[in-house]
Amino acid sequence: MARIVGGLTTSHIPAIGNAIHKNLFEDPYWKPFFDGYPPAREWLAEVKPDIAIVIYNDHGLNFFLDKQPTFAFGAAPQYTNEDEGWGIPVIPPFKGDPAFSWHLINSVVHEDFDLVTCQEMAVDHGFSVPMQLYWPNFTYTDIATVPVMINTVQHPLPSPARCYKLGQAIGRAVASYPEDKKVVVIGTGGLSHQLDGERAGFINKEFDLTCMEKIVDDPAYFLEYSIHDLVRLAGAQGAEFILWLTMRGALGGKVKQLYSNYHIPISNTAAGTMVLEAAE
Ligand code: DHB
Ligand code: FE
Repeated sequence: MARIVGGLTTSHIPAIGNAIHKNLFEDPYWKPFFDGYPPAREWLAEVKPDIAIVIYNDHGLNFFLDKQPTFAFGAAPQYTNEDEGWGIPVIPPFKGDPAFSWHLINSVVHEDFDLVTCQEMAVDHGFSVPMQLYWPNFTYTDIATVPVMINTVQHPLPSPARCYKLGQAIGRAVASYPEDKKVVVIGTGGLSHQLDGERAGFINKEFDLTCMEKIVDDPAYFLEYSIHDLVRLAGAQGAEFILWLTMRGALGGKVKQLYSNYHIPISNTAAGTMVLEAAE
């Protein structure tokens, strides 16, 4: 049977894609951020997952404000990265696993989650930057992926509780897949940030640290929060924290925090990197 071996979190800022392209790993601005990744990559090298379920939001590449699904699951043999206007180079495609994707989709729809199925899908920095951070030098082509897109840009957004429950449904779907596959779930985006408006540049370190603490042992802490609570506490784009909660729902009961790194700011954003090991 398939099983979830653990969860990862990471910011997905476009500037990171450019910094990777320019090899700025030792640059004083970037070093404390990039130094957060080798311990997580060591864990990945040890565990060797076969499939990554990447929980992310699309920022206008595959879906735009005219058509914005609440949830969309990839079911394609490969996912292309395209120019989305940030100057990030287009990188080689990501591998899919349609059979595994359709199993997840069937299982989750059976549990009454309505979603869009994508047999063709372009993936933006929300997906491509995390994949490059955890599998550098294009080694991501060794692992199959399932993009799980959640709307964080066009209100109304799904609530923290709804996303957590979607994650739990994804967890049950993985556990019922008959092939032996090790699965890692990645919650991307966050932590606090706001890119425009009166509070542009807003960062809330205290709330970020609460997020990183509670996501480990007490994710229920966030389930009474509304999206507006999240926007107030974490900024308009800080609502991306629902992507972390989806990941945590998939991991189920107890998890062990193996590693974490917090760094502010990268571009306009508080960057949180975590490795959570799922209970056997
Ligand atoms: C930034 C952060 C994001 O999450 C994003 O999608 C785009 C830009 C930033 O901090 O620049
Ligand atoms: Fe974002």
